[in-house]
Amino acid sequence: MSFAASWLALREPYDLAARDGDVLAAVAASLAGRPAITIVDLACGTGAMRRALGPRLGQHQAWRLVDNDLGLLARAAAGAPPPGTRVATVPLDLARDLEAALDGAPDLVTMGALLDLVSAEWLERLTVETAARLLPVYAALTYDGRASLEPADPFDETIIGAVNRHQRLDKGFGPALGPRAAAAAIKRFEAVGYSVVHGAADWVFGPQDREIQSEVLAGWASAARELGGVPLAAIVDWLTRRRDVVAAGRSSMRVGHVDMFARPMGLR
Ligand SMILES: C[S@@+](CC[C@H](N)C(=O)[O-])C[C@H]1O[C@@H](n2cnc3c(N)ncnc32)[C@H](O)[C@@H]1O
Repeated sequence: MSFAASWLALREPYDLAARDGDVLAAVAASLAGRPAITIVDLACGTGAMRRALGPRLGQHQAWRLVDNDLGLLARAAAGAPPPGTRVATVPLDLARDLEAALDGAPDLVTMGALLDLVSAEWLERLTVETAARLLPVYAALTYDGRASLEPADPFDETIIGAVNRHQRLDKGFGPALGPRAAAAAIKRFEAVGYSVVHGAADWVFGPQDREIQSEVLAGWASAARELGGVPLAAIVDWLTRRRDVVAAGRSSMRVGHVDMFARPMGLR
């Protein structure tokens, strides 16, 4: 599955605003006082995690940014990082080579907007492999299936239902956990002996956030069309009505995400 750099750029400020402050603080506190930190960011995209988390961590940071999209990796490597920060990009297919990505004893494993794409089997691999290495895991911005729109349209529920079923399709890691991913991840990490803090990290779009609302609504319409079962004309009519409300500056949306920090109990 590919993600456009323009879409990642559009969502980045909303992701930044959505991140749960208590979870971020727990991540930063767990690494406070270390002279140097190595972080592996799985499915890094253009490097939003480094830009969000880096300013919260100590001065000497080495980031290994992993993705299978070479175009996104090139963007993640572009520009000079802040003083004291080193960035290396690692092209890897995480569906196949997760274990290789975790090599080298990092201090922290991070991922943003990844877990809803993965299967239960891949999540199990992640928990087993990180637990075996005693690695803390910060998984941000996992979509959790909650979505609400104002003003409400009678067809919203049908579209959101279709989107949540589409979320369960294979995104390259086997049948995706989709909206179940956040709860499943919390449960699995607790089961392998981690202490987990988590919190809501919802996108909140106000009437002025026209561009991102239009993109999200168009993405939902595409997902409903791809899934099948909902008449195309009804999807197009819904999208037209919703776009008109966005253009009129009357639309608001909330899209549910969860942030999680999982830490092996008794970690050094
Ligand atoms: C929703 S984007 C999130 C990007 C970034 N973490 C962020 O928060 O902006 C999902 C990312 O997963 C990457 N991805 C998807 N499947 C992958 C795979 N099999 N191996 C490595 N990366 C993958 C995509 O290239 C994309 O960068």
